[in-house]
Amino acid sequence: MNPAEAQARIAARRAEIARHDERYQRKAQPIRADPRNQRTNRFLCVLSGLCKPNPGLVAAPPRQVIRGKILLRFRQTKISGFLVREILNPRGTIMDTLEAIRTRRSIRAYTRQPVPPATVESLLRAAMSAPSAMDQRPWQFVVVADRAKLDGLTACLPGGQMLKQAPLAIVFCADPVRETKLQGYWMQDCSAATQNLLLAAHAQGLGAVWIGVYPAEGQVRGVRERLGIPETVVPFSIVALGYPAEQLPPEDRFDRSRIHVNSW
Ligand SMILES: Cc1cc2nc3c(=O)[nH]c(=O)nc-3n(C[C@H](O)[C@H](O)[C@H](O)COP(=O)(O)O)c2cc1C
Repeated sequence: MNPAEAQARIAARRAEIARHDERYQRKAQPIRADPRNQRTNRFLCVLSGLCKPNPGLVAAPPRQVIRGKILLRFRQTKISGFLVREILNPRGTIMDTLEAIRTRRSIRAYTRQPVPPATVESLLRAAMSAPSAMDQRPWQFVVVADRAKLDGLTACLPGGQMLKQAPLAIVFCADPVRETKLQGYWMQDCSAATQNLLLAAHAQGLGAVWIGVYPAEGQVRGVRERLGIPETVVPFSIVALGYPAEQLPPEDRFDRSRIHVNSW
């Protein structure tokens, strides 16, 4: 592509983004006012420990199910017709943010159970809650649940063989054209979003693993071709996920020797 063509493509893409943002702004008001959506927000706040759990949920008896080899403990209740489920830790209390960070591990074996669409949306909400440089949010997501596509991706991702088993993958893409105010931070922004989603998945009883795509050129090209991602967009990482069929213990990686106070 010559520089003039590249410029023309970027200008076209910027115009497309502006049209998309205008449409999104128009839609945003009614969505925020939707009471069902407020309940979703509250559910996510409870999950992330930002607000107190609903008294109805605290009163609900703890339940447990066995998924593969995993024992999952949770409380569940209906709040205004909306099913709310919170995962419990071994002490029977709700997993808080620090606990989710401490106990998360890369899970590479999954049951066949599909992940419900409402859960997928809550994961994407967590991803999009990540901080980004100047709040530019230079990300796009491809949700892949198609078996043939998931299997196909393994051909270009040596570290992504667990996709053959996973019921779902979320492909994190960088859209550098969205960096209109400050350029070059998309790797950090997409990493923050990836980690947010990994933690949200773990807090909801799912197992997940980060598969690196960028900067390996062959992997970037392979994922782009298989999922029809535009040339101006960079597939950055993939999270493979599903209900866990393996459990790994938390690892304490704290190393005091890596800490330098005030100067190195
Ligand atoms: C940037 C990045 C790329 C990774 N790529 C892969 C990968 O391609 N395949 C894989 O199985 N795990 C991958 N991982 C997961 C790491 O192997 C894992 O996080 C690490 O071994 C620590 O284990 P834990 O996540 O269970 O704490 C990746 C992690 C990061 C942060």
